[in-house]
Amino acid sequence: MKDILNVRKDFPVLVNNPNVVYLDSAATSLKPYSVINKMNEYYCNYGVNVNRGVYKLSYIATENYEKTRIKCQEFLNAKYMEEIVYTKGASNGLNMIALGYMDYLNEGDEIVSCELEHHSSILPWQEVAKKKNLKLRYAKLINNKPTLDSFKEVINEKTKVVVVTYVSNVMGYILPIKDIVKLAHQYHAVVVVDAAQAVPHLKIDVQDLDCDFLAFSAHKMLGPTGFGILYGKKHLLNKLKPIEFGGDMIDEVELYDNTTKDAPYKFETGTPPIAEAISFIEAINYLENIGYDKIHDHIEDLTKYALKKLEGIEGLHIYNKDTDTGIITFNIRDVHPHDASTIFDERDICLRAGHHCAQLITHHLGVVGTLRCSIYIYNNHEDIDKFVQAVKDACEYFKEW
Ligand code: ALA
Repeated sequence: MKDILNVRKDFPVLVNNPNVVYLDSAATSLKPYSVINKMNEYYCNYGVNVNRGVYKLSYIATENYEKTRIKCQEFLNAKYMEEIVYTKGASNGLNMIALGYMDYLNEGDEIVSCELEHHSSILPWQEVAKKKNLKLRYAKLINNKPTLDSFKEVINEKTKVVVVTYVSNVMGYILPIKDIVKLAHQYHAVVVVDAAQAVPHLKIDVQDLDCDFLAFSAHKMLGPTGFGILYGKKHLLNKLKPIEFGGDMIDEVELYDNTTKDAPYKFETGTPPIAEAISFIEAINYLENIGYDKIHDHIEDLTKYALKKLEGIEGLHIYNKDTDTGIITFNIRDVHPHDASTIFDERDICLRAGHHCAQLITHHLGVVGTLRCSIYIYNNHEDIDKFVQAVKDACEYFKEW
């Protein structure tokens, strides 16, 4: 069978490990040579600090570092370059929003979310809710996903923040973000979108979505680890308080007080992940060169192929046959996913096993955890064949237990 995206040669982990079947891209994607080469370019040619040096090499580093910000503005279709904050990743960005916004919330205010959330999205709001006596409310799941109606049931005049994932990291479902934003805005609530699992799969247009904040990590979309983006509408970023202080985020420092720069720089303390920021531009270029339509078609083709081949295997329980984004979540008989995962590891098939940092949904499914296969651009039909064979063998092997 022909694979429409013939990109495996661009990924050194696959080149150097030809036997590996990598099906854990929802945890982190592999990185193409272009991203790695760009990191090397920085370290080898102008590897000095940014925003500080009054010499040529520092100007070159700073210029490259800021180029990524402009690229991200275009990538997200943000109105202003100042709406792009560099972070350490989605978790960091989501914490910055919750902790930086809490001073504007009062006892009795309500935060709305749903049980598909990743811990990084919901835990910061649990902490804020405890500190400020806020009420956390959850949109009901119907067949394991919230509908717009489930949000209608819990959003009201008391709702101040809606925090919601764009794509579930366990179920692979795409949520109707645009409609949820529209609904929340009728009640003047602010909407925070966790886009960590969305950016590898969907073209995001923050003006079209009209979301107020959106966070994601670079490493899930071919970029480096330790780097991410927090988007916020300009007036809200100006309002949001920094949760870290120091370094170059200041304007003036006096003995007992200080003034900070405007957003986005007031959020960027210390020496940042410079090589990561600079190389991230290549990850965006790589995905844009392929195009999200082709990416979608490729992943949909492989996912359908896998689901068809998995049909009817005795002892296999799939929780999301209606997945939208190449994530297949399953268990083998009643075996703990960590035990079942050994069969896959023996064959160099990389999957994630456990609660996937999203225990609300594994609790909802009534399981301690699951195995998760996540398909991305460099996977092919051969990978799926090997994976399906391993599932069959695991179901057979654990029959004895
Ligand atoms: N959040 C990442 C995952 O879903 C790590 O695996």
